[in-house]
Amino acid sequence: MMNKKLGAKILGTGAYFPKKILTNSDLEKVIETSDEWISSRTGIKERRLSEKNEYTSDLAYKASLEALKAANITPEEIDLILVATITPDMFFPSTACFLQKKLNLRSIPVFDLSAACSGFIYGIATARAFIESGLYEKILLIGADELSKITDWTDRNTCVLFGDGAGAMILTASEEDNNILSTYIGADGSYSDLLFIPAGGTANPANIDTVNEKLHTIKMKGRDVFKAAVPKMALAAQKAIELSGQKIENIRLFIPHQANIRIIEAVAKKIGVSMDRVFINIHKTGNISSATTITALDEAIKTGKIQKGDLVELVAFGGGFTWGATVIRI
Ligand code: ACO
Repeated sequence: MMNKKLGAKILGTGAYFPKKILTNSDLEKVIETSDEWISSRTGIKERRLSEKNEYTSDLAYKASLEALKAANITPEEIDLILVATITPDMFFPSTACFLQKKLNLRSIPVFDLSAACSGFIYGIATARAFIESGLYEKILLIGADELSKITDWTDRNTCVLFGDGAGAMILTASEEDNNILSTYIGADGSYSDLLFIPAGGTANPANIDTVNEKLHTIKMKGRDVFKAAVPKMALAAQKAIELSGQKIENIRLFIPHQANIRIIEAVAKKIGVSMDRVFINIHKTGNISSATTITALDEAIKTGKIQKGDLVELVAFGGGFTWGATVIRI
């Protein structure tokens, strides 16, 4: 008898944000900016900041505990951990290794995945492939970032945009339920100089000059990023819908990467979706890179904005450039 095709079933989600809140008016006191400028240009009102001794793996751990609780499983049932991040605790070991240690697990494979703000979508595509191939059964997938720790807090062009947080999802192999209807991911490395951290890697190892010149923090050509983000996110959204076999009107809620409200509005307009079908929480989170789509999905589930059976699409774009989208049935 033929085995049925394996699908990836979502067992639960979780999220965690650091306690400290940094508002636009707090920023007004340290750089030349205004709440009016930040709100009207980005949609951001406040963001969360981690403590000095609170690492990406700590946020990931707390989000994981929430997801494990929602999934009603123990950590020992997990057989693979994937962490999407661009702000690892250290270059190595991977943040996934630190998370594994915090979860008190031994011997299962774990690794980090780097795709900037598209990291969680790349993570879903990877987890799905592992599950559908039959290689792993229960996967803990994390999107976690502490952008506050790679931000130049004297650069008003970038520091108003970013925040910290983590989200987690547990997926399991299932012959009956398949929640991940499609995944679409893409990249174009020729844009790597528009959004990047110049130093700290092998191209420009850390030294006193790189530190003095603040080359370990995010550099961005904001307008160029904006221009590329809109068509790529629209393309990803349309491709993933096409691959899912669904129609755009059937998607109950769009959950875009929360980078800038104006990017989100422009993407919605381009794909012909009204803003009442678009999830927004950027005003209280800022851009948290790999963590945005999963923390937003978790909030949409927990606040009842989406119900079991609803179709949802996550769409992201980030440094690289990278982009991607996934259509999920909750
Ligand atoms: N407060 C006050 N004024 C500011 C600030 C600030 N925080 N930052 C910049 N300005 C000034 C500039 O100096 C400039 O002044 P000038 O005209 O006297 O030279 C003016 O505001 C306009 O600056 P622009 O950079 O042209 O402003 P723009 O409307 O493009 O908005 C922004 C900037 C918000 C960064 C926008 O380009 C953007 O969101 N780009 C996308 C970048 C992004 O989201 N990156 C995140 C990572 S990638 C991703 O996640 C999609």
